Amino acid sequence: MVGTDDFAALEKRGWGEEDTASAYAKDFARASAMAVPCLVSETRAGPGKHILDLCCGHGIVAAGLVKAGASVTGLDFSPAMLRIAREMVPQAEFVEGDAMAMPFPDASFDGVSMGFGMPHVPDAPAVMREARRVMKPGTYLSYSVWQETEKSAFTYVFKAIGVHGAVEVTLPPGPGASDYADPERAFPAMQAAGFDDLRINEVDSRWQVDRPDAPFDFFLEGTVRGGALLRPQPAANKAAIRTAVSEIVVANHGRDGPWDLPIPSVVVSGRAV
Ligand SMILES: C[S@@+](CC[C@H](N)C(=O)[O-])C[C@H]1O[C@@H](n2cnc3c(N)ncnc32)[C@H](O)[C@@H]1O
Repeated sequence: MVGTDDFAALEKRGWGEEDTASAYAKDFARASAMAVPCLVSETRAGPGKHILDLCCGHGIVAAGLVKAGASVTGLDFSPAMLRIAREMVPQAEFVEGDAMAMPFPDASFDGVSMGFGMPHVPDAPAVMREARRVMKPGTYLSYSVWQETEKSAFTYVFKAIGVHGAVEVTLPPGPGASDYADPERAFPAMQAAGFDDLRINEVDSRWQVDRPDAPFDFFLEGTVRGGALLRPQPAANKAAIRTAVSEIVVANHGRDGPWDLPIPSVVVSGRAV
């Protein structure tokens, strides 16, 4: 393994970096934005509701919740992300804190959303239990996660890393990026945390790109997990991964751009018992 962080430390340090936060907000989140309408509706956000948005990042879900008329508190542990969020969504309140130990009293919210946060916490079931603790009974939790399907920009990049990455560059042990996109894992965990009325919705999220290697740069610059696997690569491996991403995109989506690349996700939701 290159680097000395464990998974939790890697995530905290990585998302705290200004460059990663702004690259995520600028490019990567063009796809996460497409899950916002589903998160907002599955959380039953609306006027008179106070919704907590976990792992709020640069405030993209918070913006959707505000637009639906809810009053919103966003929580994230990255000051760099929170700076962007406060600027982007001045109507919401943003709090610095850890989703695994939230600084809120029991039963204080009318719903909780979490856009693409689940794979980043070391213990997702613990976050589900914390979310349940701060929610009023009968209100809804919804969270989005990328799906690892064959035709996904996500899969293209990690496949290219698997083939061309240097063996010494690995991630510290941690949860899989799409673990809780699978209802067989997600539903029992949600049930055990105190949720019923469980649902899963597929979201056809996409990136419009004018270079077939654009997903390589989006993962390199705007993600912690992708950055930790791509940044330490020797130059030859990095170049081979970039070329492989281009080739996979062209093979799956044609030679001529611009390309409309799928990066599908799911929104899982449940009602606090
Ligand atoms: C992939 S971004 C998602 C941003 C946004 N919610 C979206 O839908 O695009 C993940 C966010 O989770 C935050 N995060 C990761 N682990 C966290 C934790 N344990 N507590 C609070 N925030 C955390 C990161 O700082 C980052 O802003």
